[in-house]
Amino acid sequence: MNELIKKAAKDIAGARSVVALTGAGISVDSGIPPFRGKGGVWEKIDPDYADIDRFMRDPADVWNVLIKDMKELIDRATPNDGHKGLATLEELGKLHTVITQNVDGLHQMAGNKDVIEFHGSFAWQRCMACEKKCKTSDIDLSEIPPRCECGGIYRPEVIFFGEMIPHDALFRSREIASQCDVMLVVGTSAIVHPAAIMPVVAKQSGAKIIEINPERTPLTGNTSDYLIMGKAGQVMNGIIDELKRLNG
Ligand code: APR
Repeated sequence: MNELIKKAAKDIAGARSVVALTGAGISVDSGIPPFRGKGGVWEKIDPDYADIDRFMRDPADVWNVLIKDMKELIDRATPNDGHKGLATLEELGKLHTVITQNVDGLHQMAGNKDVIEFHGSFAWQRCMACEKKCKTSDIDLSEIPPRCECGGIYRPEVIFFGEMIPHDALFRSREIASQCDVMLVVGTSAIVHPAAIMPVVAKQSGAKIIEINPERTPLTGNTSDYLIMGKAGQVMNGIIDELKRLNG
């Protein structure tokens, strides 16, 4: 792993533009469980709960089973060394953009300025009747589902299964992926499309793809140039230390 960390630092040092694609794994050390794998959300809850049709059929049930718990976990979470490492990479003038599938806002909290929230943001709720937006932190949960003054039901501003990725997020991500020369793919199982396409777009445009994940993914050994097997925080700390050493 140490050799690969050195290699990654060298690749990043030599890059003109680095982009990161992140997933739930980067927030695990902040206390937010992943969706898949050991301890994942879908071990306890049917993934159908994240489907827009289920939400429309029974918003109170989806609020009770999935969204209320998400709110509690996200409310408490703070950035870990994985997020902080990516923020440092931006400070060092290396990292251009973070494309994240996460809705927890931890990249922005860590200090990254250009974050594409591919699956939306949990920071906001939208009334399904009048479209008024309300900060999730200001939502009154004494009644489930929470309602706007107009009587409409609030939904989080996230992308449910069965919904389209916002055009701007998709368009910009593709553009940025095709222009970077290194893509860091951190903490994603890389099976949910179209997010999982971004490393392929980057690779086809000539970028080097570096995965950081304790497990192999469908990208490993084909799309990715190499996998640094480990937790996001530990690996990012190693890369930043090595980059600083290289920069003197
Ligand atoms: N550091 C880095 N990676 C980790 C860590 C860690 N500490 N812990 C776990 N992982 C890895 C797992 O090995 C797995 O590959 O993070 C990945 C998490 O995968 P998923 O739970 O599938 O998360 P993600 O890829 O973000 O899911 C994509 O699926 O359910 C939807 O909309 C949801 O945005 C989400 C999308």
